[in-house]
Amino acid sequence: MATTTADREQWGSRIGFILAAAGSAIGLGNIWRFPFKAGENGGAAFVIVYLVCIALICLPYLFAELALGRNSQKNPVGAIAAIKQGTPWKLVGGLCVLTGVFILSYYGVVAGWAVGYIFKGAVAPGVESGMFFETFIADPARVIPLLGLFMLLTIGVVYGGVEQGIERWAKVLMPILLILMFVVIFRSVTLPGAEAGLSFYLNPDFSKINGTVILEALGQAFFSLSLGMGAMITYGSYLPKRENLLVSGGYVALFDTAIALLSGLMIFPAVFAMGQDPSEGAALVFVVLPEVFDAMPLGGFVGTVFFILLSIAALTSTVSLMEVVVSYFVDETQWSRAASVWIVGGFTFAVGLPSALAQGGSDLFTNQLQLFGQTGFLNIMDFIWGSLSLALGALLLSIFVGWVWGTGNAIDELQQGADGGFQGTLPTVWAAFLKYVCPIVIAVIFGAIATGVI
Ligand code: TRP
Repeated sequence: MATTTADREQWGSRIGFILAAAGSAIGLGNIWRFPFKAGENGGAAFVIVYLVCIALICLPYLFAELALGRNSQKNPVGAIAAIKQGTPWKLVGGLCVLTGVFILSYYGVVAGWAVGYIFKGAVAPGVESGMFFETFIADPARVIPLLGLFMLLTIGVVYGGVEQGIERWAKVLMPILLILMFVVIFRSVTLPGAEAGLSFYLNPDFSKINGTVILEALGQAFFSLSLGMGAMITYGSYLPKRENLLVSGGYVALFDTAIALLSGLMIFPAVFAMGQDPSEGAALVFVVLPEVFDAMPLGGFVGTVFFILLSIAALTSTVSLMEVVVSYFVDETQWSRAASVWIVGGFTFAVGLPSALAQGGSDLFTNQLQLFGQTGFLNIMDFIWGSLSLALGALLLSIFVGWVWGTGNAIDELQQGADGGFQGTLPTVWAAFLKYVCPIVIAVIFGAIATGVI
């Protein structure tokens, strides 16, 4: 039965929503993807562009997704249809759902690596960490079951529904992750030779900024905040009217950005101290962190706990990716939640298989496939769905909220629960960002890249 607005589930508490949304935002994107993208794209210069994108584009856009979600109480497809019936806009909702499936498919592969690393200490004492990683991710007999396991975990939580499943977990575990990160940072910055890494990460060389750096930073900013495919529309749809969207959204962005910046602080000092290459790509975190753990007292224990928490951070993110797709089927079709989670989970697992085999498991998926300057199926999927599609989704959704639904309606929604805190010039400034800055900047970046200008 399709749920009506009246019996739709809601978050149990305000802090519950903030933590669940922060749980969606904080994940492999912060700890795995942010450092490797920063390492590939010039270090501190990338970080600055990233921060500018968060402040000027992603934050205003985040409020638009939350407002649209809470107003419509629907998944992305339903939210759009509630405002504009039977138009091509429906396709934008479809793009959101598709993007969710595809990101989930390769994200689950990397999350599987994190789970595998929980047991690393026991399996490979004394093996050089780069070698270990290469052998590990090339082995289909390990990565495929791990992907399957991660999909099952995600199915389990999403099946439990919003409050019991997602919220209960996020509340306890996110704070522990933060504490452990500080422990690792302390070890990393006190390694001999760490200064070079700090300077790479904190001292910008602006000549390194080019079109790719800007697109990757923008894509990473959307990815990290879970924006551009309706995850925040869906999470916003479970929010009660008394909630202050601006304050809650602001906290989510703040926590997410803090964790990303702290991840860089964990990784880069160690990369340079260990004489490694910051631009080595997707392997970076998995190769460098174990070496940091090796260099600290109780390192085996710290490493195990760290990868447990990273797996859980990844789980609260995969849950939000799957929730978008599942809420679409639950709201818009006759499927039950149970049927939806199994069908979506099974399908995503199948789509994830080529990504799982793209690190040496299959030569075709590892080396022969090349597209958009990316090599290998997983990297190509990440670029298409994790960068391009999110930026495109955000472009279309900011136009939808800014021009079709209208900033007047969105402002009305944002003012509910804001206790008079969203008055005067603030709403006007926000409207200008959403209507002009977001779409124009994204469109210009796309245009410049398509025509080869940058
Ligand atoms: N933001 C998550 C991370 O940083 C990944 C994620 C979850 C995501 N839901 C999303 C990315 C929706 C894009 C869109 O790990």
